[in-house]
Amino acid sequence: MAKIIGCINTSHVPAIGRALAMHQEQTDYWKPFFDGFPPIREWLSAARPDIAVMIYNDHGLNFFLDKMPTFSVGAASVYQNSDEGWGIPTLPPFAGNLDLSWHLIESLVDAEFDITSCQEMLVDHAFTLPMKLLWPDAPIGSWPVTTVPVCVNTVQHPLPSPKRCADLGRAIGEAIRSWETDCRVVIIGSGGLSHQLDGQRAGFINKRFDLEFMESLACDPSWATRFSIHDLVELSGTQGVELLTWLAARSALGNQARLVHSNYHIPISNTAAGTIAFAEPC
Ligand code: DHB
Ligand code: FE
Repeated sequence: MAKIIGCINTSHVPAIGRALAMHQEQTDYWKPFFDGFPPIREWLSAARPDIAVMIYNDHGLNFFLDKMPTFSVGAASVYQNSDEGWGIPTLPPFAGNLDLSWHLIESLVDAEFDITSCQEMLVDHAFTLPMKLLWPDAPIGSWPVTTVPVCVNTVQHPLPSPKRCADLGRAIGEAIRSWETDCRVVIIGSGGLSHQLDGQRAGFINKRFDLEFMESLACDPSWATRFSIHDLVELSGTQGVELLTWLAARSALGNQARLVHSNYHIPISNTAAGTIAFAEPC
């Protein structure tokens, strides 16, 4: 059976893409953020995943306000990088994993998740930045993993509840563990932490909530399911709800998962930026 090696959650502020392209990782501004990654990369290279399931939110690239699936799963052999206008460098295409895509789609529908299957899908910064952060030295166009994108609607209300996202993550975990291969899979959650890019609360950051949420992923992974989606907007900001992707990713793991490393830093752009990784027992 396939094995989940663990999960990694990270923020995906587009400016990270520019910092990477301009080799600014060690500058005063960026170092506190990029310093979160070496211990995670070290664990990841020893854990040798073959496939990354990327749980993230599309920012209007595939789905806009007129058509917005709550949950969607990519089922393409290749995913081209494009973006919705942040002007960051475009990365070469990412190889998909059709076998896992269709296994996930069938298993999730069987588990009564009414997901949208996407045989064509572009990927934006929320997908590409975690890949580049985790495998910065991968030869151009040759990632060490194939990929399956899973999108959660964090953009157009009504959004799925934290509980529903945790259930989705649990179902993804069960599906992978029931897949008859010897593949090793890492789950990545991309988004958050607290931030609000527009409106009266633009610039809103809630350090206390962010740290409590990160702590809960280690000690009590279902803690955030007590909140309604409106609670979560209030606590984390309009775009902070991207942290639903972290909740889904962590929920794909069992209760025995061990903390590998975590890092929190304010601000990157107007966003509280965090990174946290968990390993499943060997
Ligand atoms: C920013 C953060 C995001 O999550 C995003 O998708 C776009 C921009 C920002 O903080 O600049
Ligand atoms: Fe975002």
